[in-house]
Amino acid sequence: MNRNDYDTVITKAITIQKQWRQVPAPKRGELIRVFGNHLRQDIETIGSAIMKDAKKIHAEAIGEVQEAVDMCDFAVGLSRQLYGLTIQSERPEHKLQEVYNPLGVVGVISAFNFPCAVWAWNHCLAIVCGNSVVWKGSPKSAQVTTACKTAWDKAVDECLPNTEYKDLLQIVDGDKEQAEWMADDVRINLLSATGSTEMGKALAPRVSARMGRALYELGGNNGMIVSKHANIDLAVRGIVFGAVGTAGQRCTTLRRLIVHESVYDELMSKLKPAYESLPVGDNFKPETLVGPLINSVAVDKMQSALSTARTKGYTVHGGTVIDEAQCLVTPAIVEATEQCDLVKTETFAPILYVLKYSELAEAINIHNAVPQGLSSCIFTDNIQEAETFTSAVGSDCGIVNVNIGPSGAEIGGAFGGEKDTGGGRESGSDAWKQYMRRSTVTINYGKSLPLAQGIKFGD
Ligand code: UN1
Repeated sequence: MNRNDYDTVITKAITIQKQWRQVPAPKRGELIRVFGNHLRQDIETIGSAIMKDAKKIHAEAIGEVQEAVDMCDFAVGLSRQLYGLTIQSERPEHKLQEVYNPLGVVGVISAFNFPCAVWAWNHCLAIVCGNSVVWKGSPKSAQVTTACKTAWDKAVDECLPNTEYKDLLQIVDGDKEQAEWMADDVRINLLSATGSTEMGKALAPRVSARMGRALYELGGNNGMIVSKHANIDLAVRGIVFGAVGTAGQRCTTLRRLIVHESVYDELMSKLKPAYESLPVGDNFKPETLVGPLINSVAVDKMQSALSTARTKGYTVHGGTVIDEAQCLVTPAIVEATEQCDLVKTETFAPILYVLKYSELAEAINIHNAVPQGLSSCIFTDNIQEAETFTSAVGSDCGIVNVNIGPSGAEIGGAFGGEKDTGGGRESGSDAWKQYMRRSTVTINYGKSLPLAQGIKFGD
């Protein structure tokens, strides 16, 4: 997309938002309700685009659209709950109130691996909050972007026929250059960007330079502590889905396993056969659980990480390229002896590094000693360990789980993480507040003008 086309998109987004902000929020929710129905109807169509673009297996592709459907349901309810506080004033006959108003234009940059759901987190909230959305999906998942836009347009045709509200969702077709335009653009009131930490760090100074608002959901290097009190069979199930689901290409993928020394051998003896029996193959085949990586660059990065691991003397299980043209690899387990730079780096592929510990405090230290802070978990049936992990001295991540893996979060909670993950929170809880402008309103319903802090000024 050239600059002129981009400017047209932004102008349309601004124009339509000026109308939309005047529509009552529950009416805005009605459009999202209808949109949710269209997503339900189109679940196989959008799912099939996800299978083609992101190379997900059917169950995961459908699950991703379901996440967008869930988001619609959440946002419909929210459209009647966009409330602020009323605060007691220190002055007589005065009232303090928080009023949430729409922000304006919300820019969304999303990645190939969740080409529908992550956009929907942002879109559904932005729309019920009275904004318009300018969406740059990944060029790798353009068919998904088109399928989502089609579902949106159909929802507008049904719910608000003969209006311009299709314009509430504008598509920016482009890559790095267009992302930079969005980061630099003062007409974008909130930029929500999902992708690598590298991408986020390139965009962040540009948004900050214009004092813009941003919400980042960047890289993860998610860990699991398996304690001596863990149910090992449960942990193995959690590990397999967490580390190899979506072929290790979720931001929430399990990448580091920190195992108590007393259960290390037992766990590995169950994990290795579970890995060896995983059906790797064409993601369109129903028996496949591990589909292809996104492209040959991803395969190369995985191979390069594994060769570094071998150079360091770590034992590598799996990680074989079984079909180069199809980008098919077997998931890898790497028994590392220390948490070196390689382990601290997010390689977007199914590599699971395994480390040993002896004391919980040591495990938590290892867990937190990476630059990223997205998702985390502990497997333990010991309440002290579980509570410690969720406490002030525990995990430093935005998502902290007990006896479930780090991936596959529900939309009801706020999603995002700390440190290099960028600090943003999307989807549930009160994430909607970021899509609105909060005004603190003071109303004087008396006939005098007392000043705050008791200041006397010429009285
Ligand atoms: C992502 O990979 O960017 O928690 C999002 C999960 C999914 C979302 C992942 N619900 O794994």
